[in-house]
Amino acid sequence: MSLLSISVTPTPLQNRKPKSKLPLPKADLLIHPIGELATPCVENGPARKKQMHEIRRVKNAAIAVRKGVIIEAGPADDVLSKIETDAATRKIEAPNKLVTPGLIDPHTHLVFGGNRANEFLMRCQGKTYAEIASSGGGIVASMRATRNATVDELVETGLYRLKRMLAHGTTTCEVKTGYGLTQDSELRMLEAIYELARVQPIELVPTFMPAHAFPPEVDRKQYVNDIVAHMLPAAALFACSSSAKPCVDVFCDEGYFSLDDTRRIFDAALSLKMKLKVHADEFANLKATELACEYGALSADHLLKVSDKEIKMLAQSDTVAVLLPGTSFYLNLSDHAPARKLIEDGAAVALGSDFNPGSCHIFSLPFIWGLGCLKLKLTVEEALTALTHNAAFAIGRGGTVGQLLSGYQADITIYDVPALEEGPYNLGWNPVAITIKKGEIGHRRVSNGRQIDGANNFFSFSLYLLSPLVIILWAPPQTGARSPNRYIQARGPDLQK
Ligand code: NIG
Ligand code: FE
Repeated sequence: MSLLSISVTPTPLQNRKPKSKLPLPKADLLIHPIGELATPCVENGPARKKQMHEIRRVKNAAIAVRKGVIIEAGPADDVLSKIETDAATRKIEAPNKLVTPGLIDPHTHLVFGGNRANEFLMRCQGKTYAEIASSGGGIVASMRATRNATVDELVETGLYRLKRMLAHGTTTCEVKTGYGLTQDSELRMLEAIYELARVQPIELVPTFMPAHAFPPEVDRKQYVNDIVAHMLPAAALFACSSSAKPCVDVFCDEGYFSLDDTRRIFDAALSLKMKLKVHADEFANLKATELACEYGALSADHLLKVSDKEIKMLAQSDTVAVLLPGTSFYLNLSDHAPARKLIEDGAAVALGSDFNPGSCHIFSLPFIWGLGCLKLKLTVEEALTALTHNAAFAIGRGGTVGQLLSGYQADITIYDVPALEEGPYNLGWNPVAITIKKGEIGHRRVSNGRQIDGANNFFSFSLYLLSPLVIILWAPPQTGARSPNRYIQARGPDLQK
């Protein structure tokens, strides 16, 4: 139905209520028609148990947005009867397309220098993550390359990666430090993350993680002392001068930080009013998840070795279980996190990419959606909840992003597939057509998902060739001295670095 032809059925005289004088809200963006709108629909807190599966699905839907916020979302007739539009209203048509809340990645290490493609090849030859790390690879290898990078270089490569994530539907993303491992280089990573938050559309949630590995040159006890006494206070202060304080994360696992180290770091972080996260139970169970629940951490992540007792604790707490199936897949492990048990026992489960240079060089959330279904046995609906509403709670943004409901931020992902079932189905092909952040189009695929080949497609092909230019020219309103375009013209893939 066209907007101009909404038919109004006259109300019988006796039923007429006094006419409200209030004008209908005017939409500045209208997405209509929509093939299928699919969203979690949970009122209080993260979704648990059956709620994770209870996705609201509406065929022939519409979403109206005003000033970056959703004002109406649901059946098209209903939405169109509650809003007004005018010539200035931007319109997006998405017939035959799936539309979900913008995807949220609650766990990434996307700022780093260099790459570790050699480790991937070593793993293909049968070496384990631990063997590679103990022979000079692993986090410490990325530490060397990151220490050698300038802040500008970290921003430039980070921006290139974020651009690809945006094209795959990510609208909000947590980003950790943890490849500097000295106060100076960790703060430079933090500076790069805050700068990245400023110059591109994906909303970033920074996490300070000097406790990612022990730097080889320093005594372990001394390093933990330094984190507690100097690095955390410096990070808290640094952040205050720009925006919200970062969260604090610890890699609590065999060969990395002990439970006692983690407790000390958590105590220091809490005294600085920083929120907590923990890498728990990836390779061994050190009771880190228990500690996370005890300390009210935002999330406990990985959880391959989580105990039954800890699952029960998660179910009773607000700590979100962030599962990272990309990592177990990329490390070629036979085990995955016990996702079904976590959901059935009542933990709030989220999914993330864990995008990093070593154990998981995968950033695509549609791909993680597929792995969540295939490897963790989530239903397509549960996995969508885990990548949106529950992921928002894992980074302290619950209730503001992650659902397509009025009052929520207008973060929206539109796919070149017709229905929810096909969201996770396309491993290896990116199904995302348009990514919208706060009501603005951050990414739009010019090829419309069709194969571009042959003379008949000359027009699409020309657009395709021009697309880098379109992306270069697009930029959010900026303040401050640094030009985003300097970074947006980032050179090619990481492998060239
Ligand atoms: O989440 N487990 C610790 N940290 C990352 C690995 C980072 C790396 O290998 O560089 C992870 O898997
Ligand atoms: Fe990680």
